[in-house]
Amino acid sequence: MYVGIIGGTGLDDPDFLADREEKYVDTPFGKPSDALIIGKIGGVDCVLLARHDRAHTTYPSNINFRANVWALKQEGCTHVVVSTACGSLREEIAPGHLVVLDQGIDRTTKRASTFYDNSAEGIEGVCHVPMGDPFHPRLRQVVIDCMKDLDITHHTKGTMVSIEGPRFSTRAESLMFRAWGGDVINMTTFPEVALAKEAGIMYASVAAATDYDCWHESEEQVNVMMVLKTMKNNATNLQKLFLELVPRIGKMDWTDDITEARDTVQNAVMLPRA
Ligand code: ADE
Repeated sequence: MYVGIIGGTGLDDPDFLADREEKYVDTPFGKPSDALIIGKIGGVDCVLLARHDRAHTTYPSNINFRANVWALKQEGCTHVVVSTACGSLREEIAPGHLVVLDQGIDRTTKRASTFYDNSAEGIEGVCHVPMGDPFHPRLRQVVIDCMKDLDITHHTKGTMVSIEGPRFSTRAESLMFRAWGGDVINMTTFPEVALAKEAGIMYASVAAATDYDCWHESEEQVNVMMVLKTMKNNATNLQKLFLELVPRIGKMDWTDDITEARDTVQNAVMLPRA
């Protein structure tokens, strides 16, 4: 069992891993955002990767999502749990709340979103991976149980709208995303979640609300200072969560889930006719 953690804004500080070492790796899709930080939480092997790199210089459209997910797969990760800063599209999801995502709407436009595009040697065919349940239900439940036990304010489900960015949404867009059923909004859940599925990795995402985007009539519209300030506070809860979560994952039997995640990809790949 090997747990990957992709840290978004605010969870890119590796201090909460024990016995850590840095490892710079390459993949068939290029280099990931930063070094992998290999270490342990409660005796369970894990690896932390800063999605935007530790200096936060990579903007969302330029993140090499394929290299990030492949690097974790290459390292042997069976599970990946990520954090992401997000705007809230719902009154009841206040800044500071955490949301365990269960659905998503992909509004990104410029990103390589599959490993199966014939760009890497040995990865053949066309992959039509099922995405009815983008996030792994059993892994999500463990995250929810930890939050309950730790008394962290959270929402047990939520639909993420991922926009291309780097700009924030217009008010018309924000209202439209609400009408579509979006609960939270960010710039990074897609294609990351789809690539994890293609990689046969169980994936769950904890979205940390930092703002009310721009739909709310009585709240200030989102800006970068607001996101960074709230994320600093959110980081404490996220670290607490991961310190509890990883050892729990390590105590469970995931044999059937690992097989199922791998079979899902195998059955999704159409190989060229002989
Ligand atoms: N990340 C944090 N807040 C956001 C927002 N309102 N829109 C898109 N990405 C975000």
